[in-house]
Amino acid sequence: MASYNAKLRVWRGDLSGGELKDFTVEVNDGEVVLDIIHRLQATQTPDLAVRWNCKAGKCGSCSAEINGRPRLLCMTRMSTFDQDETVTVTPMRTFPVMRDLVTDVSFNYEKARQIPSFAPPKDLQPGEYRMQQEDVNRSQEFRKCIECFLCQDVCHVIRDHEDNKEAYAGPRFLMRQAELDMHPLDTLDRRPEQAQDDNGLGLCNITKCCTEVCPEHIKITDNALIPMKERAADRKYDPVVWLGNKLFRRS
Ligand code: SF4
Ligand code: SF4
Ligand code: FES
Repeated sequence: MASYNAKLRVWRGDLSGGELKDFTVEVNDGEVVLDIIHRLQATQTPDLAVRWNCKAGKCGSCSAEINGRPRLLCMTRMSTFDQDETVTVTPMRTFPVMRDLVTDVSFNYEKARQIPSFAPPKDLQPGEYRMQQEDVNRSQEFRKCIECFLCQDVCHVIRDHEDNKEAYAGPRFLMRQAELDMHPLDTLDRRPEQAQDDNGLGLCNITKCCTEVCPEHIKITDNALIPMKERAADRKYDPVVWLGNKLFRRS
């Protein structure tokens, strides 16, 4: 395929405001959207801000929205689009803009800090951990996460409702709770209740949009959020657990 000139529409501005600007940029065979943004920087807009590191879909830093859909700039081929189509690139909508395509994702780091860390038995020393392979396999899927926060960006609970941010950890961190809850050596046995009460699991209505945008194809909803909701509900309505909680509270 010969090179062609693409119509590119890029959001430029900062927290105080901005606008979409139109450009025409050359595209060569096999290039991805990040290549075109870099060519735009090199030839027309040297001060355009864009965050990236690996250009291999592994660092999770080039997250943005292309034609309104959360995507990695480095993993979206220009061949996805018609040559006469205008390709619109905007910053992630759920987080505050810093400049141009760069957003402030510190919301996610705050939520990460609120998830209680892995708590192995106190008498178990490093090197003494033993797990069944099936337990390793179960959480392996979740550990592929590259922390691109595209799932956080697309989740309507916070995308459309800024005031939910306080109470809601978002799919990436609810998945972290689920991963630790499935870990056979984790001693915190209230993770499903914590996810429900402290991390806003009840606000998730399993639309699966998070799963659809995940570049690592992690089945966030089916394999983490739904099982976690089921465990939280089972335990809440389990008469033995209910009685135990009552007795514990009384003592
Ligand atoms: S499934 Fe839940 S966490 Fe995922 S996008 Fe929908 S509401 Fe958000
Ligand atoms: S779960 Fe997927 S979409 Fe969410 S932060 Fe991790 S890699 Fe990105
Ligand atoms: S630059 Fe690292 S994921 Fe795109």
